[in-house]
Amino acid sequence: MSALENSITASAPGKVIIIGEHFVVHGSYAVAAAINKRAKVTVSAGKGNESVILSNGEKTSVMGEKGKFSAAQAVARRIFEEYGTPSKGIRVEIESEIPPGSGLGSSAAISVATAASLSKFIGHTLDNDRISEIASFGEKSVHGNPSGIDSEASLLGGMILYSRETGAKQIPLNRGIQLLVVYSGHERSTSALVSKVTRKKEEFPSTFAHLSDAFSFASLQLVDALSTGDLPYLGALMNLAQASLFWVGCSTKELDNLIENVLSDESCFGAKLTGAGGGGSIIALPKPEKAGEALTRISKQYSSSFLVSIPQEGLRWE
Ligand code: PMV
Repeated sequence: MSALENSITASAPGKVIIIGEHFVVHGSYAVAAAINKRAKVTVSAGKGNESVILSNGEKTSVMGEKGKFSAAQAVARRIFEEYGTPSKGIRVEIESEIPPGSGLGSSAAISVATAASLSKFIGHTLDNDRISEIASFGEKSVHGNPSGIDSEASLLGGMILYSRETGAKQIPLNRGIQLLVVYSGHERSTSALVSKVTRKKEEFPSTFAHLSDAFSFASLQLVDALSTGDLPYLGALMNLAQASLFWVGCSTKELDNLIENVLSDESCFGAKLTGAGGGGSIIALPKPEKAGEALTRISKQYSSSFLVSIPQEGLRWE
């Protein structure tokens, strides 16, 4: 281990899944994009011998029982296992703008920023493949069977086409797009929803397999629609995706009503839940000239609403 630097800070963005969530866990393609909400992780020398993780005034020991910051804990343990446990304690401080359990990739962003900053602090500057591999331990600790799309979107930024088999491919954007993100305020567990979808797959294996294939086609179509700037088509694909997410049991009455509400004034081409569902967030594709209006209206009911212009930067040093 090389000499410790004073402190290292890295930040990584949250993400939205534009199409293909859940089906991507079972092998289909999906498309995700980094958003303008970030998790920042600062690593510095600790006071005693114990390495700790701090966030919002709460503290968890890296080696202690799995606590609230289990993603950062799992990443830190993995780094210590691979590169050696430091003889003096280390302090890992998390400041995140991404609400946990909101479907916006909070644990992935924390995992990516922790993997980068902690490894660098102890003298190892890792390449993206290694950061991704180590960040996946954080994701696994939060939900057992992650597809890996969240951490890739956070690490690389911009917009990505992803499958378990092919990994991530960045999508070049001729012109940026704007999405409206609305957090319902209801936290939920990704792992419970991933299990629910797996049960649906077991019950209807052929239907599920055909839908997974459909999501791969739709993801590729969505990439084309992005390159030609065909927003109505992009919105239509999002609306179809929502119907499938409803079928697998990941929408809720509240999300259905929220989507109905967002679509009711013709300000958006499409809307769907994003991420695991069961609560969490929805995304909508506003008509460019109506984006501000759509945000103002929905913000009156849902204060955690924001517009994001894509592309956004991935992992960065602060
Ligand atoms: O982290 P969330 O809740 O946004 O969900 C991630 C997306 C899933 O497809 C449901 C799971 C995964 O690992 O891809």
